[in-house]
Amino acid sequence: MAEELIIPKTTDRTEVYSALLPQISALIETESDLTANLANVSAALKEAFSFFWVGFYIVKEGQLVLGPFQGPIACTRIPFHKGVCGASYSRKETITVPDVEAFPGHIACSSASKSEIVLPVFHRNGTVAMVLDVDSDELDNFSELDAKFLKSIISLIERKL
Ligand code: SME
Repeated sequence: MAEELIIPKTTDRTEVYSALLPQISALIETESDLTANLANVSAALKEAFSFFWVGFYIVKEGQLVLGPFQGPIACTRIPFHKGVCGASYSRKETITVPDVEAFPGHIACSSASKSEIVLPVFHRNGTVAMVLDVDSDELDNFSELDAKFLKSIISLIERKL
Protein backbone atom coordinates (compact mmCIF):
# COMPACT_ATOMS: atom_id res chain seq x y z
CA MET A 1 0.00 0.00 0.00
CA ALA A 2 1.45 3.33 -1.06
CA GLU A 3 1.59 5.78 1.81
CA GLU A 4 -0.43 8.32 -0.09
CA LEU A 5 -4.19 8.71 -0.19
CA ILE A 6 -6.00 9.27 -3.42
CA ILE A 7 -8.93 11.54 -2.63
CA PRO A 8 -11.34 12.67 -5.34
CA LYS A 9 -11.53 16.44 -5.65
CA THR A 10 -15.22 16.79 -4.92
CA THR A 11 -17.43 17.91 -2.08
CA ASP A 12 -19.65 14.87 -2.61
CA ARG A 13 -19.07 12.97 0.62
CA THR A 14 -20.42 9.69 -0.73
CA GLU A 15 -17.77 9.80 -3.43
CA VAL A 16 -14.99 10.66 -0.99
CA TYR A 17 -16.01 7.99 1.55
CA SER A 18 -16.35 5.42 -1.24
CA ALA A 19 -12.82 6.17 -2.42
CA LEU A 20 -11.50 6.20 1.12
CA LEU A 21 -12.93 2.90 2.37
CA PRO A 22 -10.86 0.48 0.26
CA GLN A 23 -7.75 2.57 0.90
CA ILE A 24 -8.26 2.48 4.67
CA SER A 25 -8.93 -1.23 4.43
CA ALA A 26 -5.66 -1.78 2.54
CA LEU A 27 -3.80 0.51 4.92
CA ILE A 28 -4.73 -1.38 8.06
CA GLU A 29 -5.16 -4.96 6.83
CA THR A 30 -1.48 -5.86 6.95
CA GLU A 31 -0.71 -3.98 10.18
CA SER A 32 -1.45 -5.66 13.50
CA ASP A 33 -0.59 -2.73 15.78
CA LEU A 34 -3.76 -1.03 17.00
CA THR A 35 -2.15 2.35 17.75
CA ALA A 36 -0.64 2.50 14.26
CA ASN A 37 -3.98 1.68 12.67
CA LEU A 38 -5.97 4.17 14.75
CA ALA A 39 -3.39 6.84 13.94
CA ASN A 40 -3.69 6.22 10.21
CA VAL A 41 -7.50 6.11 10.29
CA SER A 42 -7.54 9.49 12.09
CA ALA A 43 -5.08 10.94 9.58
CA ALA A 44 -7.00 9.58 6.57
CA LEU A 45 -10.31 11.07 7.76
CA LYS A 46 -8.71 14.41 8.58
CA GLU A 47 -6.94 14.57 5.23
CA ALA A 48 -10.00 13.55 3.21
CA PHE A 49 -12.50 15.93 4.82
CA SER A 50 -10.41 18.55 6.66
CA PHE A 51 -12.51 17.97 9.75
CA PHE A 52 -11.47 20.11 12.73
CA TRP A 53 -10.60 17.13 14.94
CA VAL A 54 -10.68 13.37 14.43
CA GLY A 55 -9.60 10.86 17.01
CA PHE A 56 -10.22 7.98 19.35
CA TYR A 57 -10.94 7.85 23.07
CA ILE A 58 -10.04 4.41 24.38
CA VAL A 59 -11.73 2.63 27.32
CA LYS A 60 -8.98 2.42 29.91
CA GLU A 61 -8.78 2.59 33.70
CA GLY A 62 -12.54 3.09 34.03
CA GLN A 63 -12.74 6.10 31.73
CA LEU A 64 -12.18 7.27 28.16
CA VAL A 65 -8.54 8.12 27.57
CA LEU A 66 -7.28 10.09 24.58
CA GLY A 67 -5.81 7.86 21.88
CA PRO A 68 -4.47 8.56 18.39
CA PHE A 69 -5.94 11.72 16.89
CA GLN A 70 -5.43 14.49 14.36
CA GLY A 71 -6.12 18.09 15.22
CA PRO A 72 -5.50 20.47 18.10
CA ILE A 73 -4.59 19.17 21.56
CA ALA A 74 -7.59 17.78 23.42
CA CYS A 75 -8.86 16.72 26.84
CA THR A 76 -7.02 13.56 27.86
CA ARG A 77 -9.60 11.86 30.09
CA ILE A 78 -13.39 11.78 29.83
CA PRO A 79 -15.57 10.11 32.49
CA PHE A 80 -18.00 7.49 31.11
CA HIS A 81 -21.01 9.71 31.90
CA LYS A 82 -19.65 12.98 30.48
CA GLY A 83 -19.93 14.76 27.16
CA VAL A 84 -20.89 13.37 23.80
CA CYS A 85 -18.16 10.74 24.01
CA GLY A 86 -19.44 9.55 27.39
CA ALA A 87 -23.02 9.46 26.08
CA SER A 88 -21.98 7.39 23.06
CA TYR A 89 -20.06 5.01 25.32
CA SER A 90 -22.91 4.63 27.85
CA ARG A 91 -25.72 4.33 25.31
CA LYS A 92 -23.60 2.20 22.95
CA GLU A 93 -24.95 4.39 20.16
CA THR A 94 -23.81 6.78 17.48
CA ILE A 95 -24.57 10.32 18.59
CA THR A 96 -24.76 13.19 16.14
CA VAL A 97 -24.79 16.67 17.63
CA PRO A 98 -25.65 19.48 15.18
CA ASP A 99 -24.85 22.20 17.73
CA VAL A 100 -22.55 21.26 20.59
CA GLU A 101 -23.65 24.25 22.66
CA ALA A 102 -27.14 22.75 22.79
CA PHE A 103 -25.89 19.38 24.07
CA PRO A 104 -26.13 19.20 27.88
CA GLY A 105 -22.74 18.32 29.38
CA HIS A 106 -20.77 18.78 26.19
CA ILE A 107 -17.06 18.99 26.94
CA ALA A 108 -15.63 22.00 25.15
CA CYS A 109 -12.05 21.01 24.36
CA SER A 110 -12.08 23.86 21.86
CA SER A 111 -14.55 26.66 21.28
CA ALA A 112 -13.96 26.23 17.54
CA SER A 113 -15.79 22.90 17.58
CA LYS A 114 -19.43 23.46 16.55
CA SER A 115 -20.87 20.05 15.65
CA GLU A 116 -19.78 16.48 16.13
CA ILE A 117 -20.44 12.81 15.64
CA VAL A 118 -19.28 10.11 18.05
CA LEU A 119 -19.50 6.40 17.32
CA PRO A 120 -18.77 3.43 19.58
CA VAL A 121 -16.26 0.79 18.48
CA PHE A 122 -17.11 -2.65 19.84
CA HIS A 123 -15.13 -5.66 21.02
CA ARG A 124 -16.39 -9.01 19.72
CA ASN A 125 -18.14 -9.59 23.07
CA GLY A 126 -20.28 -6.46 22.61
CA THR A 127 -18.48 -4.22 25.09
CA VAL A 128 -17.27 -0.81 23.92
CA ALA A 129 -13.53 -0.72 23.25
CA MET A 130 -13.29 2.94 22.29
CA VAL A 131 -15.20 5.74 20.60
CA LEU A 132 -14.42 7.58 17.39
CA ASP A 133 -14.98 11.33 17.81
CA VAL A 134 -15.18 13.57 14.74
CA ASP A 135 -15.59 17.31 15.31
CA SER A 136 -16.35 20.08 12.83
CA ASP A 137 -15.92 23.82 13.04
CA GLU A 138 -19.19 24.16 11.12
CA LEU A 139 -22.65 23.76 12.60
CA ASP A 140 -24.71 20.73 11.58
CA ASN A 141 -21.94 19.14 9.54
CA PHE A 142 -22.82 15.46 10.07
CA SER A 143 -25.68 13.36 8.79
CA GLU A 144 -26.83 9.76 8.45
CA LEU A 145 -24.45 9.48 5.54
CA ASP A 146 -21.43 10.13 7.77
CA ALA A 147 -22.81 7.71 10.37
CA LYS A 148 -23.17 5.00 7.73
CA PHE A 149 -19.69 5.35 6.23
CA LEU A 150 -17.93 5.91 9.55
CA LYS A 151 -19.56 2.69 10.80
CA SER A 152 -18.08 0.87 7.80
CA ILE A 153 -14.66 2.26 8.68
CA ILE A 154 -15.14 1.24 12.30
CA SER A 155 -16.06 -2.30 11.29
CA LEU A 156 -12.62 -2.58 9.64
CA ILE A 157 -11.08 -1.72 13.01
CA GLU A 158 -13.41 -4.02 14.96
CA ARG A 159 -12.29 -7.00 12.87
CA LYS A 160 -8.80 -6.45 14.19
CA LEU A 161 -9.66 -6.12 17.90
N1 SME B 1 -16.37 16.49 22.03
C1 SME B 1 -16.14 15.67 23.13
C2 SME B 1 -14.92 16.01 23.90
C3 SME B 1 -13.70 15.65 23.20
S1 SME B 1 -13.13 16.83 22.19
O1 SME B 1 -14.12 17.52 21.44
C4 SME B 1 -11.89 16.31 21.26
C5 SME B 1 -17.32 15.43 24.04
O2 SME B 1 -18.09 16.32 24.46
O3 SME B 1 -17.50 14.29 24.36
